[in-house]
Amino acid sequence: MGNIKNIEFNNFRNFKNFKSSFDKKLNILFGNNGCGKTNILEGISLIAKGRGIRNSNISNLIKKEEENLFIKSNLEIQKNEFEIEVYTEKENKKFKKITKINDDLSKESLNFLNQSISYLIFLPEMERLFQSSPSFRRNFLDRLIFSSRNDYNRLINKYKKSLIERSKILQLNNFDNDWLNNIEKEICSLGLEIYSLRNFQLKTINSELKNLKNDHKFQFHVELQIKDDFFNIDNKFERYLLNLQNSRPYDKQYGGTKIGPHRSDIISIINKDFEASLLSTGQQKTVVLMILLAQCNYLVNSVKINPIFLFDEIGSHLDMHNRQLLLEMINKFETQFFLTGTDKNLFSFVSTKAKFYNITDI
Ligand SMILES: Nc1ncnc2c1ncn2[C@@H]1O[C@H](COP(=O)(O)OP(=O)(O)O)[C@@H](O)[C@H]1O
Ligand SMILES: [Mg+2]
Repeated sequence: MGNIKNIEFNNFRNFKNFKSSFDKKLNILFGNNGCGKTNILEGISLIAKGRGIRNSNISNLIKKEEENLFIKSNLEIQKNEFEIEVYTEKENKKFKKITKINDDLSKESLNFLNQSISYLIFLPEMERLFQSSPSFRRNFLDRLIFSSRNDYNRLINKYKKSLIERSKILQLNNFDNDWLNNIEKEICSLGLEIYSLRNFQLKTINSELKNLKNDHKFQFHVELQIKDDFFNIDNKFERYLLNLQNSRPYDKQYGGTKIGPHRSDIISIINKDFEASLLSTGQQKTVVLMILLAQCNYLVNSVKINPIFLFDEIGSHLDMHNRQLLLEMINKFETQFFLTGTDKNLFSFVSTKAKFYNITDI
């Protein structure tokens, strides 16, 4: 099991200096709006791969008027302790995030860290997951895939780059046909890979939810699906390529690419009857918590990773069902939790074993 023993920030977001140690199990951060609770979760998320819970530009992470940020943390991974340093460096006017593990910059160490630490994230905007844009839902799913596959973000970025390149080519009056053909082939193979990983992840969550049904009394039956005019699990490379070639005139005129996983939506069917977009925000929160519970079950039992939970503003709108779900998550897994809310009292239903941190006091 991996857990964060302590963290120190220098010139990170609103913190000049911030230092705190954490409990192995349950940490509750509370304080007024703007005191830095979300920033702390973001700082924790930056210890491992990726750009953090807000997917923010590095320049925004550095405290205003300061040059670079520095984050130091001690982690325990399978009973061994590691010191992680994360800092920024400016190179050709662009910031780079650098991660050192026990003073070591090697790829092997970084891979080890990324395979050992993974996060499951709840953000307050997820209360409207099923009413917001398809891209928000795609990102939600992609983050779940990323929690068990380190190279998934690279795949998504490569795919997006290829789409941009194709659009640029289509806007040229004269271009080399081989160039376009090659980029379309690349798009097809990357696109099929993304479709297949997303499909696998949704199937996994659906089946984990079924497994969990024996132990948990869920309020709803939830089934996730990909909604996409073009997607079909039997999609073959040739059909994809042909469709892409046929849509050249349309794509040239309107810009973008008409088909592919960047156009998918993720829908959730409730009680085999209606879409989750019809649920209230509190009920959507239930569905999101159910999905995170299912994903955690998958990570712990199949991938053998104990994720760290970063749940921002989780304290508000917690009815009995959501409290129960949260408590079950906390009790079921040997994982570390960071929960935030504006008021300590919002968490009076969790066990007395929780460690509370008043952020304004630190
Ligand atoms: N790069 C930065 N430099 C300085 N302050 C920042 C930076 N980024 C964000 N902040 C400030 O951090 C404060 C706390 O933000 P946040 O963590 O979202 O608060 P909370 O979640 O406790 O409501 C905000 O007032 C914001 O203006
Ligand atoms: Mg916040």
